[in-house]
Amino acid sequence: MKIDVELAEGLKTPLYYYDKALLEATLGEIKRCIAGKPVKVHYAVKANCNPKVLKVIADAGLGADCVSGREVTAAIKAGFSPDTICYAGVGKTDRELILGMKSGIAYFNVESLEELEVLDQLAKEYGYKPSVALRVNPNIDAHTHHYITTGLEENKFGIHLSMLDKAVEYTLQSPNLELVGLHFHIGSQITDMAPFKYLCEKVNELIANYKSRGIEFKVINVGGGLGIDYDEPDKNSIPDFKGYFDTLLSTLKLEPGQELHCELGRAIVAQCGVLISKVTYVKKGVDRQFIILDAGMNDLMRPALYGAHHKIENITASENAPVEKYDVAGPICESSDVFGKDEMLPLTRRGDLIVLRSAGAYGESMASTYNIRTLPESVLV
Ligand code: LLP
Repeated sequence: MKIDVELAEGLKTPLYYYDKALLEATLGEIKRCIAGKPVKVHYAVKANCNPKVLKVIADAGLGADCVSGREVTAAIKAGFSPDTICYAGVGKTDRELILGMKSGIAYFNVESLEELEVLDQLAKEYGYKPSVALRVNPNIDAHTHHYITTGLEENKFGIHLSMLDKAVEYTLQSPNLELVGLHFHIGSQITDMAPFKYLCEKVNELIANYKSRGIEFKVINVGGGLGIDYDEPDKNSIPDFKGYFDTLLSTLKLEPGQELHCELGRAIVAQCGVLISKVTYVKKGVDRQFIILDAGMNDLMRPALYGAHHKIENITASENAPVEKYDVAGPICESSDVFGKDEMLPLTRRGDLIVLRSAGAYGESMASTYNIRTLPESVLV
């Protein structure tokens, strides 16, 4: 990704800086991979809900995957057509269910029998007939960080396989609901294709079983989760979408007329964004030196929350500067407010601009005002 340093120098930091050209190239690659195939990609809005970013993705013709009523509203405002929006989440409130029905979204990913009953009742009361994809908990280990693995029985997500028949029967029998599909999501930042392949094999078993009982699903939604390269963002600026879609399409036994839906978030936006921060102090410690940034864990929570590492670069250091070792930290009063330890960076001075790479996904969207700080600024270039 390209950063216009001069432009960045004139803007207020901490700053989320998005590269529109790379985002469009990423979307173009997705469209090439699925052209002519029965595949629909729904962008997972939670990864980045910046209106400027959302608009580029909506303009590319993707659908949206939302997890709150406000995400549904934001997606529609950005230009996503309501009939391309699916809505997941274990705790949709009555208000949110009504908003989804009123907005005319494509379908709800329903996560429990309890939610199904409430949606049924509200649909009847308000005179809608919402489409439903039942979210199945397939009990698959995605071998990713335990905070972002979602398809295990111990997780709160989805309907347990032993209760799925009941949910299918309930939806089919209700005059207020339309059963359109099954939904799965096994976790996030998955870079090995094996868990996706394993998921597709489980899906095949399930749909064959239902087909033998005369029940067919129009939509098979396998969720999101495709990971990105945090270590080498320049070498792999666009994820291996071809490998991903080939794995899904070669393993899944789709019936004619059946559609494969995906909900990619991180893979679409992560590499297109960076967090730019100004060095407030270079502080000498006893046997180490600290770069103290004006960005903290409230601006980019991933390192503190998941132990994630975003590649760190100094974009204003002079070309022949000697390399030194630094710990890079934020200003927040928490020991976890650290972005990197023993980072080898060119000699850094107060006022330099430091970049945290691959921050386009789950960066700005997870920012908070902890310590009564302001939310980070953003620019799409
Ligand atoms: N679909 C569902 C039902 C999801 O729960 C998620 C992400 C996605 C799709 C999109 O997953 P993606 O393609 O982005 O991996 N904050 C964490 C990631 C949390 C992911 C939550 N669910 C992080 O910063 O790593």
